[in-house]
Amino acid sequence: MSLAAQVQQTLSSAGTKDADISALIDLVDELCGVYLDESKGYLIESRLAPIVKRFECRDYSDLVQRAKSLAGNDVRTEIVDAITTHETLFFRDESPFNALRFKVLPDLIEAIESSGRPRRIRIWSAACSTGQEVYSIAMVLHEIAQALPGWDLQIFGTDVSPASVETARRGWYSNLEVGRGLDDMNKSNYFIHEASGWQVAQDLQRLAKFEVRNLLRPFPEKNQFDIVFCRNVAIYFKPDQRADMFHRIVETMTPGGWLFVGSAERLSDLGSAFAPQTHCNCTVYRPK
Ligand SMILES: C[S@@+](CC[C@H](N)C(=O)[O-])C[C@H]1O[C@@H](n2cnc3c(N)ncnc32)[C@H](O)[C@@H]1O
Repeated sequence: MSLAAQVQQTLSSAGTKDADISALIDLVDELCGVYLDESKGYLIESRLAPIVKRFECRDYSDLVQRAKSLAGNDVRTEIVDAITTHETLFFRDESPFNALRFKVLPDLIEAIESSGRPRRIRIWSAACSTGQEVYSIAMVLHEIAQALPGWDLQIFGTDVSPASVETARRGWYSNLEVGRGLDDMNKSNYFIHEASGWQVAQDLQRLAKFEVRNLLRPFPEKNQFDIVFCRNVAIYFKPDQRADMFHRIVETMTPGGWLFVGSAERLSDLGSAFAPQTHCNCTVYRPK
């Protein structure tokens, strides 16, 4: 018997009906677009069973009902936090941040200067998890900002997980977390060492703004962002959701904007508007 079938059997023998599992899968899909087919039965068991207990639900069916009720915000939040994968680190994959520093920002600044547009740069880190991506971008931006007095610079970090957004907004990281991707220079320049961890310096925090946002819902911005990082999240979506999201992201971008995706992701199936370019060993897209 396959592992999936075994898990399904475990859930079923624990009193969970197939219809309840389907309802749960649909709920998770609706809440955050993460599609749990039956092969992900272990995720349901390991991540959602504790929530069933914590909210004193009778079973998964009861959990779905609670989550769908008007008063179910806490339950919905916990389900999203539990099911989404928040793995991230500072300067993840390195090459996108080199491309940002040596190609994208210099080109963008020159384009803005020569067009006479307002001296403003807006960057969106879509699915920013606990904020390491946002603060990595902020460190690069801050270095360059020394030579850009009077520019209006902002990085907007969003994630569907309220707990992750809260961590990002707070900007406090453990020794282990800063040990993943930060060198001593960045630590001493941009963090304040406290007894039990590291606090992002105000200079960086000032550049960042955070919001809870589901990438599967419509975006309010049109022609706003010069640069978008949308990395390591679309892999969890169904193909049509993924395509729709990237097309909607393009709508939020300024003409000639730059789009970064995860190092293992490619957008070649989305049409000629998404032609890849390589800079500093990083694939980057300039859609529109
Ligand atoms: C693996 S992390 C990637 C973090 C960061 N972009 C990076 O590459 O290091 C994926 C993030 O996507 C978020 N996520 C999952 N589904 C989402 C959705 N529908 N809308 C917004 N964020 C979502 C998760 O909460 C998680 O924090």
